Amino acid sequence: AKSFPKTEACFQRKFGTNAAAAQAEVPRKEEIEEKAAPKPFIDVQAERQEQAERSVLISCQSKTNEKKFLKLLSKHGDIKKYFYYESYGTYAVVEFANKESIASLLEATAIPSVNHESTVPFKSRLLSLRGSGPAEQSRLQCEPQTTIPINELIQRLSREESVDRQVTSLTEAYQLTEENVHLRFLVCSLVKDIAAAYFPECIIRPFGSSVNGFGKLGCDLDMFLDLDGISGRNIKVPKTGLSLEYQMKRASSERAVTQSILSVIGECVDQFGPGCVGVQKILNARCPLVRFAHQPSGFQCDLTANNRVAMKSTELLYLYGALDQRVRCMVFTVRCWARAHGITSSIPGAWITNFSLTVMVLFFLQRRSPPIIPTLDHLQELAGPGDKSVIEGNDCTFVSDFSKIQLHNNTETLEQLLREFFEFYGSFAFTKMSINIRKGKEQNKPEVAPLHIQNPFEPSLNVSKNVNGTQLERFVALCQESSWLLQQSDISTPRGGSEGQTPVPWGLATLLLPSQVAVIKGRKKRKREPASERIKSLLESLKNKNQQKKS
Ligand code: CTP
Ligand code: MG
Repeated sequence: AKSFPKTEACFQRKFGTNAAAAQAEVPRKEEIEEKAAPKPFIDVQAERQEQAERSVLISCQSKTNEKKFLKLLSKHGDIKKYFYYESYGTYAVVEFANKESIASLLEATAIPSVNHESTVPFKSRLLSLRGSGPAEQSRLQCEPQTTIPINELIQRLSREESVDRQVTSLTEAYQLTEENVHLRFLVCSLVKDIAAAYFPECIIRPFGSSVNGFGKLGCDLDMFLDLDGISGRNIKVPKTGLSLEYQMKRASSERAVTQSILSVIGECVDQFGPGCVGVQKILNARCPLVRFAHQPSGFQCDLTANNRVAMKSTELLYLYGALDQRVRCMVFTVRCWARAHGITSSIPGAWITNFSLTVMVLFFLQRRSPPIIPTLDHLQELAGPGDKSVIEGNDCTFVSDFSKIQLHNNTETLEQLLREFFEFYGSFAFTKMSINIRKGKEQNKPEVAPLHIQNPFEPSLNVSKNVNGTQLERFVALCQESSWLLQQSDISTPRGGSEGQTPVPWGLATLLLPSQVAVIKGRKKRKREPASERIKSLLESLKNKNQQKKS
């Protein structure tokens, strides 16, 4: 079994406590391979949030004189980190070493007067740089905030020399960058400054794919308005003494309170929020939310409140993703494959969602022999007293300390796992069985629905309730096709390809090409050729392309 050592202990064991000992002690091979335990989710969140509060977002010109720009800012304190990016203009994210620098900087800024228009006098940390001297010859070096287009990805993957490399290369191309995560926390922190007008102690926390380890560049930014610090939800009220409560406003339900809070905050974001455009209040949804675009960052934002279960499921996904690097690789690959074939969509409807797909990948990894990741029930058994969490009557407790988790020694390659994944779901008993990551075993379906995936923290709910029969059928057919393709030797061997030429798709790249199944199932009335014919023609076309390249 593999386990994570605690960071400090591991460091001391490997390198000793002083330089001489470090030289004398040569670490054993197993020790080098042993990775330090990842940080618990809440620690990562707290660090990022604190970093965001020391940061500002500045609109500048692409040919800004960088030296002068940094000198101007340094007047207010030491700069710890900065980077530039483009989104309808050029922006800089600047992180100061101390929070005091922000106050000093804001003090020195003025609210601009605009001809024929008036501005709402709201001083935010979204600034713009004026008159920083003559433009430079060279442009600022910008960090990418979006993924490469799918065609470019297919070409990149076709140049790799193994399916394993293809899968990791896809993950590297799609995952959020350090800078993008910094920007996400900064946008939450800017929205917090607006909400703080009503609730000074509130926190706006990102959740979902921005922080669960499975986010793709360009994914939406899910935010959660956390008022627990004010409401003192987890604090025992003393029997005697002064109570803060005095003729407080009440509503008929917690839902009604959430709706009224989101309604005013939504209004405030709309009227006073710099850079916030297209604000929509969607208060009658199962989970009420305010949707808007944050123009300077380019993020589509969904602001919710009182959504603590979603925060827990985000933490669970983070934990699973950090346990074994194959988990994130598999999730990124399956999500990308699903998007390429229109199994998932950016429009809400009867499609399978990214969240459902992720749970399906986790379930598959629990079903390997030996399992790659533990069941949720097991993670609950390992929980310590500080991990206890009950939300609206549901027990959401599970371990947060990675060093308590022992993993089995499963050595399957990504290529094997990918093939097995498609085989697994290509022949899964969807009609009878429900997918359950709490037990790590399929269960009898408790209700009729084409696809049943038990919500890990609200067992009575089906995560994929929206999915209809047609969409499930398409998913199964595509799994079967992909599993078949990966078993063909001409498809699963690298094609090589000369420098400067478009490489011939092979392996994972082939799976991302438009499928025949998708076309035929999409237009039901068309006559169907037998599956073997369709795949034969696909193979033929690939061979032809290969020959063309060689000649
Ligand atoms: N969530 C949930 N139950 C659902 C749907 C969502 O608990 N039925 C939670 C999950 O924690 C999910 C988060 O809400 O991660 C955000 O949902 P969504 O934006 O739909 O999914 P993401 O995981 O953020 O993926 P995407 O990249 O598609 O936005
Ligand atoms: Mg999301």
